[in-house]
Amino acid sequence: MLKVEGIHVYYGLSHILFEVSLEVHPGEVVCLLGRNGAGKSTTMRGIMGLNPPRQGKVLFEDQDLSGKKPFEIARLGLGYVPDDRRVFADLTVAENLDIVEGVSKRKPQWTRDRLFEFFPPLAPIAHRKAGLLSGGEQQMLTIARALMTNPKLLLLDEPTEGLAPLVVKTLEEQISSLKEAGLTVLLAEQNQKMALRLSDRAYVIDNGSIRYHGTIQELRENDEVRRKYLLV
Ligand SMILES: Nc1ncnc2c1ncn2[C@@H]1O[C@H](COP(=O)(O)OP(=O)(O)O)[C@@H](O)[C@H]1O
Ligand SMILES: [Mg+2]
Repeated sequence: MLKVEGIHVYYGLSHILFEVSLEVHPGEVVCLLGRNGAGKSTTMRGIMGLNPPRQGKVLFEDQDLSGKKPFEIARLGLGYVPDDRRVFADLTVAENLDIVEGVSKRKPQWTRDRLFEFFPPLAPIAHRKAGLLSGGEQQMLTIARALMTNPKLLLLDEPTEGLAPLVVKTLEEQISSLKEAGLTVLLAEQNQKMALRLSDRAYVIDNGSIRYHGTIQELRENDEVRRKYLLV
């Protein structure tokens, strides 16, 4: 579904990603693991065309994304939840969802009501201003908002960062239900426990290069890679 082929991404003159390649197949949850500063967010930004690769390319359902604008890439069916958890603070929870309704031309799979069923904590606070929500609630809302655009593939950038353990557990269950509902996910995480439980396969990134990829089982058995690139 998604094929990243040897991309190099820069911020200005700083060369950040080196020859990064990865693949996500339909129905998979694939995690991109790495320490802080490893290049996870930059990979996501490269895929979404926010920092377009200077070399290499990204294919989505065999379509080359080179030269496409972020909104065009989103319209093809890539949902993106950045790491900043930004909501429209002055809008209510329901309005945050309504505002993106119909952004995609595909047949809607997700409606506001279905999302409230999927994220039960959001239902009773539908009319509260989003700026007043807890961090966990805001994270659920940003994921729900991305789903309103009916993505085929969802890019989730460190959804659990800085959240309390109980909230992390809830989010983990919700992401797991999304997978069961057929959503394909690329998940960037530092939290390997959660990521390994949720994912089918893993890529490990360090210093802007992919150092390892394999199944979750293989990664669990590979202490060397986990010690070298993941444990802080
Ligand atoms: N806007 C930016 N300008 C310059 N360098 C940046 C910018 N954002 C991130 N970087 C650098 O790019 C590298 C990768 O960052 P990032 O992709 O955010 O890592 P991660 O998401 O894995 O924590 C880091 O060295 C970081 O300092
Ligand atoms: Mg990041």
